[in-house]
Amino acid sequence: MNLIKPSLFLVVFILLACNSTKKKVSKPESEKFNLQTSLNKSILKTKETLKGLSSPDSFPRRINSNKINWDFVSVNDWCSGFWPGVLWYAYEASSDHTIKKQAEKFTNPIKTIAYSSAKNHDIGFMVYCSYGNGYRLTGNKEYKKILLSAADTLATLYNPNVGSILSWPSQRSKFQHNTIIDNMMNLELLFWAAKNGGSKRLYEIAKSHAEITMKYMVRDDGAVYHVGSFDEDTGKFLKGYTHQGYANESMWSRGQAWGIYGFSVAYRETGNQAFLETAIKLSNHYINRLPKDRIPYWDFDDPKIPNAPKDASAAAISACGMLELSEFVKDEKLKEKYRNTAQNFIEILSSKEYFSGDTNQALLLHSTGHRPKNSEIDVPIIYADYYYLEALIRLKKIAANAAFAQK
Ligand code: GLY
Repeated sequence: MNLIKPSLFLVVFILLACNSTKKKVSKPESEKFNLQTSLNKSILKTKETLKGLSSPDSFPRRINSNKINWDFVSVNDWCSGFWPGVLWYAYEASSDHTIKKQAEKFTNPIKTIAYSSAKNHDIGFMVYCSYGNGYRLTGNKEYKKILLSAADTLATLYNPNVGSILSWPSQRSKFQHNTIIDNMMNLELLFWAAKNGGSKRLYEIAKSHAEITMKYMVRDDGAVYHVGSFDEDTGKFLKGYTHQGYANESMWSRGQAWGIYGFSVAYRETGNQAFLETAIKLSNHYINRLPKDRIPYWDFDDPKIPNAPKDASAAAISACGMLELSEFVKDEKLKEKYRNTAQNFIEILSSKEYFSGDTNQALLLHSTGHRPKNSEIDVPIIYADYYYLEALIRLKKIAANAAFAQK
C-alpha cells in the first residue's frame, strides 16, 4: 500500500518522472510517457468499467483471451479486495466523489472476510487493499474496526512452534505447515493493527514471520522459494517448494516481487537492518536477471524463454516495492537505482505494448496467474492494475515531494 514519506530528491528524477523518454528512440509525442496522462487514462478507464458493473458482490479478476470484459469472482476469492482497491486509488488520484461512492460500495461486502474464520493468509490482501486504503483516505471508524478484526483473524493462523503464519491450511497434507512468500504482503495489516489499537502481539507475529521467511526461504543467490514447508510441531524447516513457479529452485517472478515489496515494508515497520538488506538482495538479483525489455517472463527459469508468457503483474508489484525500498536506502546512488528502475518499469507498463488502451476493460495486458495449472496465461489480471495504479500514485508523490524540497 502507498505510504510514501516526504523526502529530498534529485531534480533529474522529477524531470524523468514527469515527462520522460529515451532520447535515442524518438517516439511520437502521443506515445511518450507522461505520469499525469497515464493516471488520467487509468481513472477514465476505471470509470468506464464501473458503468457496466451492477452487483457489488462480484469482483473483477481477469479477462480471458479474446474477451473484452472482466470475469468476476465472489467475495471469498483471494482477489476480491483489488477492485475496491483500484477504486480507492482512482479516487485518491482524482478526488472524484462518484468513484468514492463506488469504492465504498465494493468495499462493504468484504467485511464478512474480517469476521469469518481464517481460510488462508489472503485475508490480508482482501481486507487491507479495500478497507486499508478506504481507512487511509477517509478515516472511517467503522473501517478501522473491521481492519482490527481482520488482523486478529489473520493472526489465528500463526504457529508459535514455527514462528510463522500458516499460509494455506488447505495445502497442509502436501506441504505440512507452509509459509509462502506472498504472505510477506499480508504482514502490513498486522503491523498496522499493532500501531492502531490492536494487540502488540500482532507486531511480534509479523516480525517473527518475516524473520522465519528471511532465514529459510531466501536462497544464497537472492532468489526466493515460493513455499517453505515446516514441521508444525518442531518448527524444523523441511524443504523449499514451488506451487506457481516453474520448479522448486527456479525464480517465480511474482513471488520475487512479493518478496521485494514485503521485506521493504518489514524494514519500514521494524527498522531491522537485515530486512532492508534482504529487500536489496532480492531486488538486485531480480534486476540483474531481467530480459532486455525489462518486463519479466512469468518465471525467470522457464526453459521456453523467450517463447514464454510475461507477467506484467510482477513488474507492477516490484515497481511499488522498489519505490518503497528507495525511501529507506541511505546511499544516494542506490536510492536512485531503485527509483529509476521502478520508473522504467512503470513507463514500459504505460506503453502501448502493455497498457490496454481500447483493447478491453483492464488497465494492463500480459499477466500470468498460474502457469503450472495452465490458468490465466498472458491475460489482464486485477492485481496488475491495482499495483500499477499504486505505482503511478507513488511516483507522483515522490515527484511532488522532490519539487517541494527544491523550493
Ligand atoms: N498470491 C497469489 C499469487 O500471487 O498468484
